[in-house]
Amino acid sequence: MSDYLWFEGIPFPTLGYKREILENFDKFVIRDEDTVILSYPKSGTNWMIEIVCLIQNKGNSKWIQSVPIWERSPWIEIQYGYELSINREGPRLISSHLPIHLFPKSFFSSKAKVIFVVRNPRDVLVSGYFFFHKTNNTKNPESFGTYFEWFLKGNVVYGSWFEHTRDWLSMRERKNFLLVSYEEMKKDTRKTIEKICDFLGKKLETEELDLVLKHSSFQAMKENNMSNYSLLQDRIAHDLKLLRKGMTGDWKNYFTVAQAEAFDKVFQEKMNGFPPELFPWQ
Ligand code: A3P
Repeated sequence: MSDYLWFEGIPFPTLGYKREILENFDKFVIRDEDTVILSYPKSGTNWMIEIVCLIQNKGNSKWIQSVPIWERSPWIEIQYGYELSINREGPRLISSHLPIHLFPKSFFSSKAKVIFVVRNPRDVLVSGYFFFHKTNNTKNPESFGTYFEWFLKGNVVYGSWFEHTRDWLSMRERKNFLLVSYEEMKKDTRKTIEKICDFLGKKLETEELDLVLKHSSFQAMKENNMSNYSLLQDRIAHDLKLLRKGMTGDWKNYFTVAQAEAFDKVFQEKMNGFPPELFPWQ
């Protein structure tokens, strides 16, 4: 059990994060040729990373099976990822969960391509509860009910889902911003991969696309030690499972009727004004 590293009102995990890096984050310059995967934690970020890595390699699985996912697409706000990527040459693949106001300012005038992954926040909440409730780098809730309350208040790692999502979605009309939902990835993975290929300007043959699908499946990722977080076992938690269920609507197995109503109310208040088609789970 640990607490948070608080920075500008946002709670961060304590392990791997450094205040000095966050304070000087504008030193990290985003370049035009970079591809950035952005999301609120537990939205399907690692799935997206796996897909993009495979697209870049036309379905060849050598890279994803030999290099840990956090080295292929480093999280730039984590010390390890920051140091690994800040001076990396050539087009970089990078990931971040940062809220928009903490993201490097150079990004906003760059042509870097951004893929923003959004997921039903109810499923994000459930996934987050099971991932974070026993980790030793963040505050652990004693029950699901406690985590539910924290989530609605934004008292969880990376802060409020509502603010994070609202702020990043304000970029959605930009040409270099692609919005992808976890739900569309689940519903029609092939079509979503094609959409990502179009955005990245990559043309894959049918067999190459088949390989991307095959190697990024839930089962394939679960069995890939470079992607399933088994290398971090015991460092962050005793029984750390990134690939838990991989389904949509799991929240229905955990929310009480009262929690579902309370969540709807907050969602409507906070996300008021956004077109409902942005949230395909509704
Ligand atoms: P669950 O906990 O609901 O199973 P992130 O990568 O942002 O931390 O998100 C983790 C969530 O994405 C987990 O959700 C995990 O199972 C799911 N996920 C990861 N890889 C997946 C895949 N290939 N197919 C479907 N879901 C996947």
